[in-house]
Amino acid sequence: MTDEVRRLAGAAWAFRARVEREASSRFLRLAGMIPAFDPASPVIALLRRAAADEDRHAVLCAGLAAAYGGPDGGTPEDACIAPRSFGARDAVLYEMVAACCITETESVATLATLLSETAEPRVRTVVHEIAKDEVVHGRMGWAHLAREAAARDVSFLSGHLPSMLEGSVEAGLFSAGGPGPEPDELLRHGVLPPWRKREIFVGTLEEVVFPGLEKLGVAAAPARAWLTQRLGRRVSPGEMR
Ligand SMILES: [Fe+2]
Ligand SMILES: [Fe+2]
Repeated sequence: MTDEVRRLAGAAWAFRARVEREASSRFLRLAGMIPAFDPASPVIALLRRAAADEDRHAVLCAGLAAAYGGPDGGTPEDACIAPRSFGARDAVLYEMVAACCITETESVATLATLLSETAEPRVRTVVHEIAKDEVVHGRMGWAHLAREAAARDVSFLSGHLPSMLEGSVEAGLFSAGGPGPEPDELLRHGVLPPWRKREIFVGTLEEVVFPGLEKLGVAAAPARAWLTQRLGRRVSPGEMR
């Protein structure tokens, strides 16, 4: 393994460890907010269980980061990501859609791609362990949105989808990205090349997230426009592979 691959793998797993810790705090906070407006929701217990899953994932990711000599990932920040003008119930809905329907669904697609590649045994074990839980975390968001959609009008979320997406993209996802180490060498250590990340991100939105939102009464047109603009502005068609 080259130093460059080791550095990229250490940084990627440290970043994931921090994302997992942030998800844990967010899920616990949301579990504490739902009882005020929907005390019978099964999502409350699911969120608590998911928070424990994320703590476990964080330990696994930090272990890999350390094995590659990466940083410890830093202190997680759990701030409400919904617009300040939102009341508590709308804010919970915003965060559940952003964190679960979008981020967890994207995570499942990314992990599935890593599992389909030849990874180091240690990487594969961690990815497998995390992937099975993230599927459940994604469903938790769809379950909450479906419950809310049955109880009230959720169409207001539509105009907020672009800011959710903006918040969910990793820095550099839409920038061209220079030449780097061989993709196969990176994939073995759980790192996806930027063009692959972009392809997964776009494919998951178009095939899973947008149709799912529309089925529950949240128009995806503003989100589709955001995606078109992002792709058109920074990525030439040839780069999308
Ligand atoms: Fe996780
Ligand atoms: Fe998760």
